[in-house]
Amino acid sequence: MSITSNTRIRAQAETDLARRFPAHFLWGAATASYQIEGAAREDGRGYSIWDDFAATPGKTYQGHSGEVAADHYHRVEEDTDLMAQLGLGAYRFSIAWPRILPEGRGAVNQAGLDFYDRLVDTLLAKNIQPFATLYHWDLPSPLEQAGGWLNRATAYAFADYAELVTRRLGDRVANWITLNEPWCSAYLGYGIGVHAPGLRDRQAAIDAAHHLLLGHGLAVPGMRAHLPSSAQVGITHLLNQVYGADERAETARDMELANAFSNGWFLDPIYRGAYPERFFEHMGLNPPPIQEGDLKIIAAPLDFLGVNNYSRILLRGAQAQPLADRCVSVSPVPNACYTDMGWEIYPRGLRDLLVNVARNYPVGKLYVTENGAAFPDVWDGGDTVSDPRRVSYLRSYITACAEAIEQGAPLCGYFVWSLLDNFEWGEGYAKRFGIVYIDYSTQRRVIKESGHWYAALLDAFRKV
Ligand code: FCB
Repeated sequence: MSITSNTRIRAQAETDLARRFPAHFLWGAATASYQIEGAAREDGRGYSIWDDFAATPGKTYQGHSGEVAADHYHRVEEDTDLMAQLGLGAYRFSIAWPRILPEGRGAVNQAGLDFYDRLVDTLLAKNIQPFATLYHWDLPSPLEQAGGWLNRATAYAFADYAELVTRRLGDRVANWITLNEPWCSAYLGYGIGVHAPGLRDRQAAIDAAHHLLLGHGLAVPGMRAHLPSSAQVGITHLLNQVYGADERAETARDMELANAFSNGWFLDPIYRGAYPERFFEHMGLNPPPIQEGDLKIIAAPLDFLGVNNYSRILLRGAQAQPLADRCVSVSPVPNACYTDMGWEIYPRGLRDLLVNVARNYPVGKLYVTENGAAFPDVWDGGDTVSDPRRVSYLRSYITACAEAIEQGAPLCGYFVWSLLDNFEWGEGYAKRFGIVYIDYSTQRRVIKESGHWYAALLDAFRKV
């Protein structure tokens, strides 16, 4: 087949895919402060738990840290130009709490607020809607020294910080996400220690989760007080559809446990005002220190749910009943394909997840706030980077989004993770998720083929 007819067929396929999305659908890309900004010691920024964690030997891949990252702090103009070139309608970024409040509370660092103020104005000038996340894991170190998310006071500090930021940016930012993936903050950070702050105490994960949820619930009314009524406030969770590898009763039982652990733990308190039934017993742990009224605060009404999804969970029931976080997943799944993170590629998982979450919880609107794939991309010095597996990953997951909408899910937007290659937490710079490649030695940006593909899809969407 000739190159021209190949291209024509591809363009046609993109038009067919684009046509399956409603006219108001929002297309974007996502990043997070610590993963891209760099400038860790500039303009009065304080330290965060991720600076401390990365500085601890053995915690991140080859000791990598976000100190320089993609140097986005100094490249707002260039990076927002890239977004415009890709045709993004929205950009999801996070605000670094320690840039705004170096001590976590108290004295405000104006330079930090000014940075996000400029970012927001630049986005709006380029017709890109800002989606701001208030907490994507970079807790100010002084708060961690006072107990971090194990200390109830951190929830109140978060609410104050959230109010401060919405007061400054709320006249221009219409979409707000309180927390990104509190499951990861609590379980990976406090429970098994692979993320900052690096504690290995499963009971601590339960307690930290409660204070994260409380912080979220306390923040919502304070934010709304400074936002126009048209603004939308939501939260983003990492969610996974759970499947069984067989029909055994043990498998059905373990699916329920795993579903409570990876989804219900955070969705139930927010949408039902209660933790999943017997959840703490199924974890083999004690309930967190819940005070009277907490669950009502946590269940503050929201405008949307942000869903981050990369893979699925496939289980085979164990003989004896496991603890909820000890269910046995099938891995590797025979004949399945995996990304560079070792995550199974299973687009149907996103479709089923969106449909089921909307059926089981009163979510209002849904956004896919993160979805994407790491592959070992190589830049040969040319003007693009060939990443066919990412193109096919994105195409299949975006098709799954279209199917979810067709099955009734109120999905209003999709954000690819990530705009740029970046600091992938414990994996450092070894994993590349961007649709734009970063040559870290020069900070040169090169749009990958997946970026060009995404731009073509968005272009087709605008034309249908
Ligand atoms: C999510 C995180 C995001 C990124 C992706 C790959 O869990 O929210 O920062 O690391 O995974």
